[in-house]
Amino acid sequence: MPDDSRQNFDAAAALADAEARLAAANPHSAAAHEAACKGMPGGNTRTVLFYPPFPLALARGEGCRLYDVDGHEYVDFQVEQTAGIYGHSEPIILDAVRDAMSEGITLGGPTLREGVLAEMFQQRFPAVEKVRFTNSGTEANLLALSTARAVTGREKLLGFQGSYHGSVISFGAYGNSMNVPFDWTYGRYNDVEATRQQIRELGSELAAVIFEPMTGSGGCIPATAEFVAMIREETERAGALMIMDEVMTSRLSPGGLHGLWGATPDLVSFGKYLGGGLTFGAFGGRADIMNRFDPSKPGAFAHAGTFNNNVLSLSAAIAGLGKVYTPEAAARLNGDGDILRGRLNDALKSAGVAGQVTGIGSMMMVHLTDKPLNGPTDADQVSPTLRGLIHLGLIERGYYVARRNMIVLSLPMGAAEMDGLVAAFKDVLATYKNVLPEA
Ligand SMILES: Cc1ncc(COP(=O)(O)O)c(C=O)c1O
Repeated sequence: MPDDSRQNFDAAAALADAEARLAAANPHSAAAHEAACKGMPGGNTRTVLFYPPFPLALARGEGCRLYDVDGHEYVDFQVEQTAGIYGHSEPIILDAVRDAMSEGITLGGPTLREGVLAEMFQQRFPAVEKVRFTNSGTEANLLALSTARAVTGREKLLGFQGSYHGSVISFGAYGNSMNVPFDWTYGRYNDVEATRQQIRELGSELAAVIFEPMTGSGGCIPATAEFVAMIREETERAGALMIMDEVMTSRLSPGGLHGLWGATPDLVSFGKYLGGGLTFGAFGGRADIMNRFDPSKPGAFAHAGTFNNNVLSLSAAIAGLGKVYTPEAAARLNGDGDILRGRLNDALKSAGVAGQVTGIGSMMMVHLTDKPLNGPTDADQVSPTLRGLIHLGLIERGYYVARRNMIVLSLPMGAAEMDGLVAAFKDVLATYKNVLPEA
């Protein structure tokens, strides 16, 4: 059991102690970080993975478990920010990738694979009449937004404060200085009337509205049915496109959240787990829009990308979606997530800590506040110190979660992992009770 004996001063002191304990217990990670700092700013090539004093360096993964370079074992509830749905050694996916490797990995022409995967997308996701593949969710969103600008001949785009759509389409925590210079207007997520007004004001200049049906990194806060219906109605009226970013959320039902809710976006973007654990993205939607990419037609839109049809991602994707993340598996995993979220909320209640665990199915986030959360900007109000305490508290107890307190399920998890996480969460709440907000 970790020594939390000095936790009673205040949250900042408790977090400083937790960081000191992490540093003391992980000399090899510390050394790896120091070495990485020589070649990369902050030793980092992916901002979201940094946390002080240094992130644990991971040695390997197996099933739903991770092992760091100091020999500690963790149950992996970070799940590669939702992309690791299959766990770390799914045999069907490993076989598919090995088979693909044995046939040559950079062939420079179409193979049988992209057509197969495209058909699977059509069958699975109702909004997808036609699809194209990319290498990341960022790229998928860039292409979807650029498509909207090209088909409408308009410049303006509406996104939502605090939302995240990729490394250069980020309206939240990382600031906007790296964003692509599109002509953005920012709305408030789930604010139906104010957004309606904004869309009407942008009117004939608006190319598209982009939003997640549930904010992923922005707090696991679902869009209300009224909000989605308003965006559908108002974009249609304005002659603009509705783009749903399902890069994270498409795992939440066999047909994504748009499928579950019967929503009808014009374009949808995908990524993460759909590549079977390899680099992946896709965008698709209405055939009349996507057909503009048909290269046999004069004046077709171009969509280049050396690795758009790379055989490793396509093979892993086909095996994963076809044989592993079946509709039945999706229903089971998301059902388990709903139960886990309920248990974590019960734990907060019985500990007398002000907080809530939001989400749908297999994606959830802990927020130590009892204020209503309507969108990412509300979730941002929770103190980063409290998020740090929950994060390191769970890590010390062997449960690896995202710094932002996001908890995600993967297929290899069972009752033992869920029970263990609930027990660890209860222990963190009891340990830090004096510095956590009271219910
Ligand atoms: C909602 C959403 N859209 C897009 C992206 C970008 O995907 P990628 O990291 O593959 O570029 C992410 C990544 O976290 C995301 O959560």
